[in-house]
Amino acid sequence: MSDNVILMENVRKTYVMGEEKVHALRGISFAVEQGEFLSIMGPSGSGKSTCMNMIGCLDRPTSGIVRIGGKETAKMTEKELAVLRNKTIGFVFQQYHLLPSMTVLENVMVPLRYQGIEKNLRRDMALDALEKMGLSDRVSHLPNELSGGQKQRVAIARATVTNPSIILADEPTGALDSHTGVAVMELFGKINASGTTIVIVTHDPRIGENTKRCIRIFDGQIQSDSKNSSVEGQE
Ligand SMILES: Nc1ncnc2c1ncn2[C@@H]1O[C@H](COP(=O)(O)OP(=O)(O)O)[C@@H](O)[C@H]1O
Ligand SMILES: [Mg+2]
Repeated sequence: MSDNVILMENVRKTYVMGEEKVHALRGISFAVEQGEFLSIMGPSGSGKSTCMNMIGCLDRPTSGIVRIGGKETAKMTEKELAVLRNKTIGFVFQQYHLLPSMTVLENVMVPLRYQGIEKNLRRDMALDALEKMGLSDRVSHLPNELSGGQKQRVAIARATVTNPSIILADEPTGALDSHTGVAVMELFGKINASGTTIVIVTHDPRIGENTKRCIRIFDGQIQSDSKNSSVEGQE
């Protein structure tokens, strides 16, 4: 076996809604090596989020193979998938998905709780992740006391605190102004520099053109999978 951290082989996903079938993914195949920085780009409705849900084991394909960290996911139980997600993948979403009644620090500690890490260590690890995001002075704030860019940095701290091998980000700059969006992309660049695989899902060509590899999808199929030779500083 190769050291692909993500392997998708002829992945199909069909949503059935009553009589109607939506073919969201129509046979998607690609492989990602540890340490890559890539985007999955396509217009609204092209199947990007469905694809991210397959990579992130948040949902199962209708057919095809999804292998994450060398593990074939089809035969895994829900519980095994939850452990795989928690250990291997950090998620970042457009709308941050922070828990509104918890402080910034508590939000970042959440994924560590499932790893049975003792509370003081959880706290130290979360503080460290927040410091790397430049948020040491915001740890006691509630999410609604923060700007959009700050909220997204909290979400990135939460995604990285477990030191996952993969970060999956679905439209992470979609709710941010362009300046803040560029800053968030730079943070992903820094995280990638330490060896973490980064997959950004986006409809925005300005992001797709600034990742080293870009997979374009349209109507549930891959249109192109290309390297941007002009992009530097990413693995
Ligand atoms: N849970 C679902 N049930 C039914 N149809 C869905 C569901 N999720 C997505 N779809 C449909 O699948 C297609 C792809 O959606 P999605 O993956 O969300 O695209 P994107 O993220 O590129 O906008 C769309 O036609 C969408 O309406
Ligand atoms: Mg989407």
